[in-house]
Amino acid sequence: MQELNILAKSTSDNLDLPRISSDTNDSFLLGKVYIESYGCQMNFADSEVVTAILINNGYGTTSNIQEADSILLNTCAIRDNAEQKIRHRLQTFKAIKSKNPKVVIGILGCMAERLKTKLIEEEKLVDLVAGPDSYRDLPNLLGQIENGQKAINVFLSKEETYGDIEPVRLHSNGVSAFVSIMRGCDNMCSFCVVPFTRGRERSRDLDSILDECQKLYEKGFREINLLGQNVDSYRWENPSTKELITFDKLISLTAQIHTDLRIRFSTSHPKDITNEVLYAMKKHSNICKNIHLPAQSGSNRILDKMNRTYTREWYLDRIRAIREILGNDCGISHDIIAGFCSEDDQDHQDTLSLLNEVIFDFGYMFTYSERPGTPAAKKYTDNVPLEVKSKRLQEIIDLQRKHSGIRNEQMINSIQKVLVEGNSKKSNQHHFGKTDNNKIVVFEKGSEKVGSYVDVKITACTTGTLLGHLNLTNT
Ligand code: SAH
Ligand code: SF4
Ligand code: F3S
Repeated sequence: MQELNILAKSTSDNLDLPRISSDTNDSFLLGKVYIESYGCQMNFADSEVVTAILINNGYGTTSNIQEADSILLNTCAIRDNAEQKIRHRLQTFKAIKSKNPKVVIGILGCMAERLKTKLIEEEKLVDLVAGPDSYRDLPNLLGQIENGQKAINVFLSKEETYGDIEPVRLHSNGVSAFVSIMRGCDNMCSFCVVPFTRGRERSRDLDSILDECQKLYEKGFREINLLGQNVDSYRWENPSTKELITFDKLISLTAQIHTDLRIRFSTSHPKDITNEVLYAMKKHSNICKNIHLPAQSGSNRILDKMNRTYTREWYLDRIRAIREILGNDCGISHDIIAGFCSEDDQDHQDTLSLLNEVIFDFGYMFTYSERPGTPAAKKYTDNVPLEVKSKRLQEIIDLQRKHSGIRNEQMINSIQKVLVEGNSKKSNQHHFGKTDNNKIVVFEKGSEKVGSYVDVKITACTTGTLLGHLNLTNT
């Protein structure tokens, strides 16, 4: 799963801006809530669940922080800088709180779960702390604050999937939507805080997933992003038939809702992605040919210390299987961490050589940030100096940028089926959309509508974007 406030991004997507709640027009009873979201797509999807829970309980939402009765920040704890961003943001709320002491400041999500009561003790502004599995309790927690108390619920559940809650789409372009299929993670990669902030892995029931996707299609959405920390380990047993639904079956069933509904998913784990998943992708033309397969490192010694449970050779074998089954055009992206504990120059060279062997389309790249309480923090020393981490990261970013350029150039002169998502950021004479393999394409508008498919001939590219024109003879 990818954090959206990313350190090194090379697409033109506006992903690093916090997303905020939209307005409800309905008359509301209990006050207006403003929600700002940080972190990965799952957090953004959760904010949509939170909004639904609040609206169902008589609250309204607002995108204007000044008129909010409650300000909720849905936070991330994946790296220290994600948490620093939130602390900094809280400082800017001081003025709001001093003008209106009644305004409620709440912290949701992974940082809330990690720091628990500490947040209320350290940040005097904070009135409410709610972890990722306690959102059904939010109306009750907000009620407690009205009675003059601070409110906290950081209970992690083994069952909660919010499967029955229909999310309220925030800032949606009406074309693409996130659908959570599971929560938590059981993997225990040594560097990672997620198992501690999101708890045990659990899969959402199939029927509620299909129902949500069907409704989205009927509302005009044309792209579904199925979300989980490790989607390949999706497992759900039908209680009456005892049929086991694995991830390959889940994507096949969602793909059958309509051939015009594109299915994407993330994140895949190299140890779990099966050939069955790849064959399901091949069989259904509307399952997008793009796989996000975090590598983290190209060095077996480091992969072992990270407890990733695969080797470089295993990872490369999965890449070979993807290209053999789905062809060379299938988009493949990665995550890499530079400067994990004890990483030496040879380990770093192994990461660069992995990149050179694969030639990825895209990557999210980070310097290692020690997270308190994780196995790595307990067992190893964070001993790669920051300058070395940053230098290695820069080399990785530079190489990835070169590779993104190579992969994009390979698409020049091809004709791509593009789902139109909206006006290009730079010009309202241009539309933008995505190719099947997840590349952003900008092209001069014709008569097509947002949410429709067009054939675009790719004529040029940058490292982050493809440029093209409508291929009218073929539409
Ligand atoms: N479930 C996903 C990852 C979720 S976190 C997976 O297994 O791939 C997204 C990415 O953040 C990770 O892939 C990793 O590259 C990065 N990350 C996680 N913990 C980190 C840490 N402590 N320091 C730096 N980067 C980290
Ligand atoms: Fe973290 Fe590993 Fe789980 Fe991903 S698979 S969320 S990196 S523990
Ligand atoms: Fe996502 Fe950040 Fe939590 S990446 S799962 S919001 S720690």
